[in-house]
Amino acid sequence: MKRRDFIKYYSLFLSSSYFFPFSLSAKNKSLNKKIIPSTKESIPVIGMGTWISFNVGKNIRLRNQRTQVLKKFFEYGGGMIDSSPMYGSSEEVLGYALKKIGYPKGLFSATKIWTPSTEKGKEQFKDSLKLWGLKKLDLEQVHNLVNYEEHLETLQKLKAEKRIRYIGVTTSHGRRHSELKKVLKSKNIDFVQLTYNMQNTDAEPLIELAQKNNIAVIANRPYAGGGLIKNIQNKPLPKWSKDIDCTTWADFLLKYIVSDPGVTCAIPATTQVEHMQENMQAGIGKLPTPKQRQQMMSYFKSL
Ligand SMILES: NC(=O)c1ccc[n+]([C@@H]2O[C@H](COP(=O)([O-])OP(=O)(O)OC[C@H]3O[C@@H](n4cnc5c(N)ncnc54)[C@H](OP(=O)(O)O)[C@@H]3O)[C@@H](O)[C@H]2O)c1
Repeated sequence: MKRRDFIKYYSLFLSSSYFFPFSLSAKNKSLNKKIIPSTKESIPVIGMGTWISFNVGKNIRLRNQRTQVLKKFFEYGGGMIDSSPMYGSSEEVLGYALKKIGYPKGLFSATKIWTPSTEKGKEQFKDSLKLWGLKKLDLEQVHNLVNYEEHLETLQKLKAEKRIRYIGVTTSHGRRHSELKKVLKSKNIDFVQLTYNMQNTDAEPLIELAQKNNIAVIANRPYAGGGLIKNIQNKPLPKWSKDIDCTTWADFLLKYIVSDPGVTCAIPATTQVEHMQENMQAGIGKLPTPKQRQQMMSYFKSL
């Protein structure tokens, strides 16, 4: 291990409330957590997305089924839920499901403003509160950097009024990285959300920059929208993957992401209870060392 990697990894270990359970009978074991650099609050390394998965409109059967997915998330001690006004009915469906299961304690609400209009942005914040059924939000992000200069001013005011706890910006699919670099260097934000997975590692320099500037990183599209995990499901996992508590491809793909020292959490989306279970399981147990991460990437590339 290079000295720089060792120091990074060791300081991550010291500053995080990591747990290293030795067995995988894990449902009752705690999820690994990492800290949000701006406050030192710790959150579970696996959160959940809602983009397509929770956009089910008024269909009661589908709403109740998604409620079961959400229930499983919290049974495992899940935290961050990410949504946006861009995701159709997702925020409304989340509000429905959260109400049904009684707003579990660990909820870390994260949504976005997505509009070129500054005034409409303020309305979207109020709409989100109503739709989620909350009095304040944990994290409000500027979606895809749309009109971010002005929305960030709105968000700073909301933070000062204690109506949101954290501020962030998002991008995805490797888009607008040079703009994002400027934002990370110049703006006072707590979180950045970007696409990072085993197939798309373009964001690594930005993750490193965020870490340097005390900004928490949310990895979106951890399965590249689903194709990544679906295409390798029938390939064998390497024997040594048991050494890092990987027994499924969900473990392998998600542990790779959240073991990056600069990544705070990943937010896979799913419509299925069984997949939620697999995804949450990936937040439990050992995480790979930098050397093991290299071994994982070599294996992945050889498939
Ligand atoms: N600009 C932005 O701010 C931005 C952009 C993109 C995404 N995001 C956020 O990131 C979240 C995640 O990204 P994403 O929804 O694009 O894609 P993703 O999480 O990479 O992949 C979701 C797909 O993976 C499948 N899946 C999930 N768990 C699985 C498992 N254990 N085994 C097999 N398949 C599994 C799901 O199918 P099943 O339903 O069958 O499980 C679904 O088709 C979004 O929902 C959103 O909250 C933000």
